[in-house]
Amino acid sequence: MSRQRWSSKTVFVLAAIGSAVGLGNIWRFPYLAGKYGGGAFLIPYLIALLAVGFPLLMLEFAIGQKMQQGAVGAFKRLHPKFQGFGMAAVLSGFIIIAYYAVVMAWALVYLFASFRVSWADSAEQYFFDSVLHISEGVGHLGGVNLPILLALIAVWILIYFCVWRGTQSEGSVVVYSVPLPVILLSVLLLRAITLPGCLDGWQLYLKPSWRVLADPEVWSAAFSQIFFTLSLAFGTMLTYASYKSPDDDIVSDTWVTALTNSAISIFSGFVVFGVLGYMASQTATPIAELAASGPGLAFVIFPQALSLMPLPGLFSALFFLMLISLGIDSAFSLVEAVNTVFLDRKPHWKIEQVSFWVCLTGLLAGIVYTTQAGLYYLDIVDHFVTHYSIMLAAIAQAILGGWVYGAESLRRYINAVSNWQIGAWWSVSVKYVIPVSLAVLLFAQLSTDLRSPYEGYPSWALGIGWALVLMSGGIMAAPFCIPARPAHQPQKNRS
Ligand code: PHE
Repeated sequence: MSRQRWSSKTVFVLAAIGSAVGLGNIWRFPYLAGKYGGGAFLIPYLIALLAVGFPLLMLEFAIGQKMQQGAVGAFKRLHPKFQGFGMAAVLSGFIIIAYYAVVMAWALVYLFASFRVSWADSAEQYFFDSVLHISEGVGHLGGVNLPILLALIAVWILIYFCVWRGTQSEGSVVVYSVPLPVILLSVLLLRAITLPGCLDGWQLYLKPSWRVLADPEVWSAAFSQIFFTLSLAFGTMLTYASYKSPDDDIVSDTWVTALTNSAISIFSGFVVFGVLGYMASQTATPIAELAASGPGLAFVIFPQALSLMPLPGLFSALFFLMLISLGIDSAFSLVEAVNTVFLDRKPHWKIEQVSFWVCLTGLLAGIVYTTQAGLYYLDIVDHFVTHYSIMLAAIAQAILGGWVYGAESLRRYINAVSNWQIGAWWSVSVKYVIPVSLAVLLFAQLSTDLRSPYEGYPSWALGIGWALVLMSGGIMAAPFCIPARPAHQPQKNRS
């Protein structure tokens, strides 16, 4: 059976940009920039992009395109003992999609509530009490929140219809889902520019506070942001590249994807800080305090700011529509990575059916996040998967590509198919810079978490996070522990 293909080069690049540009660009990047030194944060961010993000993205594109398989099959072709690395990466992606879809479900609930601006009285109370019905602690699961569950089902139906025909249906979706959020962001930017206080917000965003550069936490935040935002080490970019033809250009696709993604992050920073500047001017709260509100930025602070504007219903609806359209192509890229693992093994299986079962499993896995303790579980799982499982997977990928298979031989392949040539610095990055810098970050995070339990959660709850990390490690190590089957012995001839 012939392998599926993207209908054109542009469609592939749009799909890769769609996977990269997601919820991470609109709330995670701006709040990190606000928290870690405004303009100065761009320095570690851009260094992380060049030193780790760009080389690793190119590595994923090269492996997928050369091996013409998803993460598990491609790693197996690189070296049979390493297929567990691919499985661990895809499994982490699957764990992420289960809660990523729930965040999109919250956005859908907000979209419906936009026209009445239901949070106008108190955005905080609205989010925690009316939407989440949050329980008093992680030990109190409470019941499932029906509106969130219904929204989650709707989100999964949407995801299903994006992936059900593989690259063909995904290709027709990304043509709209990539430009749409950018257009909506531009409308919101025009709105922000006309508001009082916008320039104060921008000033905080761009004014560098240099002393933060001495803080290792800032560097760690910048590196993990680059991973999350470029969808690295989950097997998604590798899977997408496996649907290109083996002689397609790699270098230019990597530049275009990585630079467009960062440009959209920086652009959304202008929107967010402009609106926060306005809110600060209306409520006499310092902008830095508003920006550093962490994950609550998109569902508490921003909605509150929108409710203060003229025409709040319209702009709130645009904002939440933008969040959903931003998230959808990231969400389905994670599903595609899982589908491809099955379809590589059983090419005669129908994509529609594989997609159905993967989406149904994702929906069921997400139900825990729709309970009253859902936010706590989401927070714990997100922390451990993005700080440990993914870092381990990325280190493993760099070692496999750089040392086991050979960075130089991959570089020769990349240069043979690309117009722009890539220098020896790429091999140095894959072999040394990526594994060493990520290992340092991993150990720094480990020592922080061992010193003080993450967010003060009880140890049994954090145990769930550690169990997920151990499971990833176990899956990676398993093929090394199982003795190789003895080679086939030819039967002795009786005569
Ligand atoms: N890059 C996406 C974002 O910024 C998240 C994502 C991670 C998507 C991993 C796919 C794989 O929101």
